[in-house]
Amino acid sequence: MTKMSTDLYDILLQKLDIRAIAAMAANGIIGNNNSIPWNIPEEMAFFRRMTQNASVLMGRKTFESIGHPLPNRQNIVMTKDAAWHCDTAIAIQKLDQLLELAIEGPIWVCGGAMVYEMLFPACRELYLSTVFGKFDGDTKMPSFGDIFVINKTILTCPTFKVDHYVTRRHANIEKKPLSL
Ligand SMILES: NC(=O)c1ccc[n+]([C@@H]2O[C@H](COP(=O)([O-])OP(=O)(O)OC[C@H]3O[C@@H](n4cnc5c(N)ncnc54)[C@H](OP(=O)(O)O)[C@@H]3O)[C@@H](O)[C@H]2O)c1
Repeated sequence: MTKMSTDLYDILLQKLDIRAIAAMAANGIIGNNNSIPWNIPEEMAFFRRMTQNASVLMGRKTFESIGHPLPNRQNIVMTKDAAWHCDTAIAIQKLDQLLELAIEGPIWVCGGAMVYEMLFPACRELYLSTVFGKFDGDTKMPSFGDIFVINKTILTCPTFKVDHYVTRRHANIEKKPLSL
């Protein structure tokens, strides 16, 4: 992380309530061929419940793989393509644009791997579903052990569990003045 990006992550951590939500298999796989390699309605329901009426931030590939904006949520899409446009989503090219959007309430980072990796340092929390079993896939969860520490398991179902993680960085930056 460069000095400048560390400062930006600190500002995002302080000023916005950014959280990550993800589901991965026991072998770390989160995607295959631009889709999710399992279909677990209870896990999808958990995702819907957590993100309902809030903002969701995702990579352009994930957004296009879903095929439509997530309903009842403000959809924000990261793309390097300044010409990319969708009537029902906000496109951003740089993270600092999040500060200009005047978003109230949490922003849920919901993948894929590129966007998780980029946004994890700006997230206060991670809600991670672990799907029991190994899956074939082409997209893996980026490493997050240096960024988050586990708080507790909040849900256990027959096919998956959900662990709640908190950022290791938050306690330090909270002590800094808000005018950063
Ligand atoms: N299991 C889960 O919880 C979960 C959740 C979400 C997605 N997934 C899966 O993950 C896979 C997709 O993940 P992915 O990593 O390939 O793609 P992704 O993160 O969804 O999207 C990647 C795109 O984001 C944009 N982007 C990346 N870095 C950027 C930056 N620094 N600045 C601006 N834009 C940037 C680029 O869009 P442009 O190319 O337009 O510039 C890039 O191609 C799929 O298989 C999907 O189903 C799984």
